Amino acid sequence: MPAQKLDGKALAATMRGEIATQVQARAAAGKRAPGLAAVLVGEDPASQQYVKNKHKACQDVGFATAAHRLPATTSQAELLALVAQLNADPAVHGILVQLPLPKQIDGEAVIRAVAPAKDVDCFHPENVGLLAAGHPRFYPCTPHGVIQLLTRNGVSLAGKSVVVVGRSNIVGKPLALMLMQKPTAANPAAADATVTVAHTRTSDLAAVCRGADVLVAAAGVPEFLTADMVRPGAVVIDVGTNNVNGRWCGDVHPGVWDVAGWVSPVPGGVGPMTITMLLHNTLAAAQQIDG
Ligand code: GUN
Repeated sequence: MPAQKLDGKALAATMRGEIATQVQARAAAGKRAPGLAAVLVGEDPASQQYVKNKHKACQDVGFATAAHRLPATTSQAELLALVAQLNADPAVHGILVQLPLPKQIDGEAVIRAVAPAKDVDCFHPENVGLLAAGHPRFYPCTPHGVIQLLTRNGVSLAGKSVVVVGRSNIVGKPLALMLMQKPTAANPAAADATVTVAHTRTSDLAAVCRGADVLVAAAGVPEFLTADMVRPGAVVIDVGTNNVNGRWCGDVHPGVWDVAGWVSPVPGGVGPMTITMLLHNTLAAAQQIDG
């Protein structure tokens, strides 16, 4: 029997409905709509599509949203000036600077310039530190989306062997932190799992992956995770969004569906959940800033 689908599109729709209800309640109480400012530098087609999707998702739940599109030739000083303006704007609760940035811009300096209270990506070192210490201000969007996709479909993680393939600052590293931590009132998405992080230098990657109850493919390598690397019945999460000759494909080979118990599809799995968690963080930022 083929694997069951972990339907991120359906769960995202449910959770966006929950967020829209909270936005309406805030409006009824006379509060300002949560505001997200998205900044896009240059014309990278994938980044343009991501920002468009985020902008529409914000509109759908009743947020105030502005997309700031700057030319690829923008200087670091110009970008930092825009970030400073957004930091000071009371109508903006969340700031998202779409990565990657053009070569002339020091991305780390830009990440550090975003006010931590408005850092809805959870990329600022202060917020990364709070997450690592188990007292998160925000959860990073893709890792949080992965954990919600699992837990809200009834996949328990406590005590499970979870293998994360990929160690990026955006996905693998923070996801491993969240999975391994003990859940508390301040850290409700923590999962009590036993975590292994695998990467390009891991010896016998297939054997490591076969030890997983839950396998997260976040390497950014099209269809690298093949059926022989998956224990029968395992849960497989595909974080890959690879554009191969104009077609979107994940990190998981289609043959995995014949072996796994559950698989998240691409598209329609983690992608819509990531955007939903961005909405969640922007609402949380508005609650923290405006009350
Ligand atoms: N580029 C790829 N993923 C992300 C993300 O989650 N946030 C931002 N700002 N840029 C990205």
